[in-house]
Amino acid sequence: MKIYTTKVPPIKCQGIKTKLVPWIKAILPGDLSGTWIEPFMGSGVVAFNVRPKKAILADSNPHLINFYNAIATGEITAGRARQFLEEEGAKLIQTEGEYYYTVRNRFNEHGNPIDFLFLNRSCFNGMIRFNKKGGFNVPSCRKPNRFAQALITKICNQIQMVSDVISLGNYTFINQDFDQTISMAKNRDLIYCDPPYIDRHADYFNGWTENDEARLEALLSKVPCPFILSTWHHNEYRENTFIDSLWSKYELLTREHFYHVGGSEKNRNPMIEALITNYEANFVESISQKSEQMQLLEPKGGYNV
Ligand SMILES: C[S@@+](CC[C@H](N)C(=O)[O-])C[C@H]1O[C@@H](n2cnc3c(N)ncnc32)[C@H](O)[C@@H]1O
Repeated sequence: MKIYTTKVPPIKCQGIKTKLVPWIKAILPGDLSGTWIEPFMGSGVVAFNVRPKKAILADSNPHLINFYNAIATGEITAGRARQFLEEEGAKLIQTEGEYYYTVRNRFNEHGNPIDFLFLNRSCFNGMIRFNKKGGFNVPSCRKPNRFAQALITKICNQIQMVSDVISLGNYTFINQDFDQTISMAKNRDLIYCDPPYIDRHADYFNGWTENDEARLEALLSKVPCPFILSTWHHNEYRENTFIDSLWSKYELLTREHFYHVGGSEKNRNPMIEALITNYEANFVESISQKSEQMQLLEPKGGYNV
């Protein structure tokens, strides 16, 4: 049995596929010489673990894209993040947690990517949720000492990991709708799609309708390269009827998966995950994985600021 170590990125989001990474890696087609295209990048955990040489990572949420562009340009480095989280974390302690709302107001006014990191790592349950006007509205996790040294080191190591992956390849982060991203695909590219699941965690940047699902299938049916689609198969109460109505002409693999990030108990029921492909993928019986927490040590001599 293979044991994979999955690297965890600095941003958390609903539906993050950390636990599915080994499975996705195991079923990739042999030729990865083209561009890795991800129209719904979310946290980016899949691409940052596959580590393709060329990647187009896109999302309709501009704050995710701004954050990763800030790492790509060097505006956010592990060293700068450490300094920022130490200073802002101290204010969180001094105000018994109230300072979270000062940062949230500031972020909703200016959209600064490092404020997004602060909020994402100190909000309730690591949620990303925006109101109808596009304002971040998740409450605080109510832990004034949230940014303890161990967490800051872990986050900085996660930023360093992303920075290392980006600097070794040709990575583009784009804020756009999935149809524009899919239309960029050429022969020998690979598209990995992880759209929001219908009825789960909808918000300003993250709504998903039957029409969107049908539009996605129509676009993927015409691409000149392999694709992998993540979706859900069934849980205790319901099954995903689109598997039969829209996706039945493709290959289907299923696997049990348990979500840890996200709102209500209802969403924490075991979910049978599915991968749909337009090529014959390997059947993978058993994979064991460890998530690398990256929290113990900083590099000797600290980070470059
Ligand atoms: C399930 S999440 C992706 C999670 C990601 N695979 C991960 O492991 O972190 C779905 C993403 O799709 C994005 N999204 C929603 N509607 C979109 C659209 N119409 N076009 C592009 N991205 C969209 C959301 O902002 C969200 O980040």
